[in-house]
Amino acid sequence: MTEYAGRKAVITGGTAGIGLAVAEAVVAGGGEVVVTGRRAADRARFGDRGLVVRSDSADLGQIEELAAVVEQRLGRVDLLFVNAGFAQPGPFGRVTEELFDATFGVNAKGAFFTAQRLAPLVVDGGAIVFTTSVANGAGNPGMTPYAGAKAAVRAFTKGIAAELLPRGIRVNAVSPGFIETPSGGITDADPELLRRFAQAGDAITPMRRHGSVAEVARAVLFLAFGATFTTGAEFNVDGGLGLRLTRP
Ligand SMILES: NC(=O)c1ccc[n+]([C@@H]2O[C@H](COP(=O)([O-])OP(=O)(O)OC[C@H]3O[C@@H](n4cnc5c(N)ncnc54)[C@H](OP(=O)(O)O)[C@@H]3O)[C@@H](O)[C@H]2O)c1
Repeated sequence: MTEYAGRKAVITGGTAGIGLAVAEAVVAGGGEVVVTGRRAADRARFGDRGLVVRSDSADLGQIEELAAVVEQRLGRVDLLFVNAGFAQPGPFGRVTEELFDATFGVNAKGAFFTAQRLAPLVVDGGAIVFTTSVANGAGNPGMTPYAGAKAAVRAFTKGIAAELLPRGIRVNAVSPGFIETPSGGITDADPELLRRFAQAGDAITPMRRHGSVAEVARAVLFLAFGATFTTGAEFNVDGGLGLRLTRP
């Protein structure tokens, strides 16, 4: 396939789950990727068409190092997919300052500074896609800091979209519902908790199933390369879950 031949993408949180599915689709289509993870697993995964960089999105210094690596390896970038993130559910009353800071550190602050520090490398006319979550406007028990951080990402999407209009860079967000990934979007979840979480997700999702990473990847790549008259939008890939959740 040559759909993405000559295209260059940077994908944070690209060693597993949704980010990996996007990276694999770009490489399968003839493009080139730089992907990040905190652990930089399987460095040879993409052969000579991909580089896996160990980089923690919560660390501004590491984001700056990433920008330098990307500039050296790819030069200019057609797609920046700001995807790294996690949720650690728990009741509001038990959220520690440490968990709050970690949640906002990766999902909100990390997303903001990844976009800020890498935007100069995005070609004029290129695209930035963020990963937010359908939880960002909902009242889900146990998800409050995560929902708040992902609501910040929704706001960043609109603000940065407006600021990058003069460069013709479109900025959009994909908003997944329940998606089957190694973590299910939940960090440190034991298999039994994940199974119950997935079951509950299927039950409340109007389409009565979870989504696949391939379904999210298709939406991300559409926003990146197909949605040429769209910017500042949030695109749900959630089996209709957003219809059931309260929105602000
Ligand atoms: N799965 C869902 O149902 C769902 C629903 C809504 C939204 N989302 C969002 O979608 C995004 C991807 O979720 P996923 O389920 O695909 O995740 P996943 O399967 O757990 O994969 C997470 C990826 O991000 C990397 N990562 C985690 N923390 C990072 C950090 N601080 N810096 C850089 N890389 C980091 C991981 O590698 P390392 O572990 O090596 O760092 C891995 O490559 C997240 O933003 C998540 O909040 C997921």
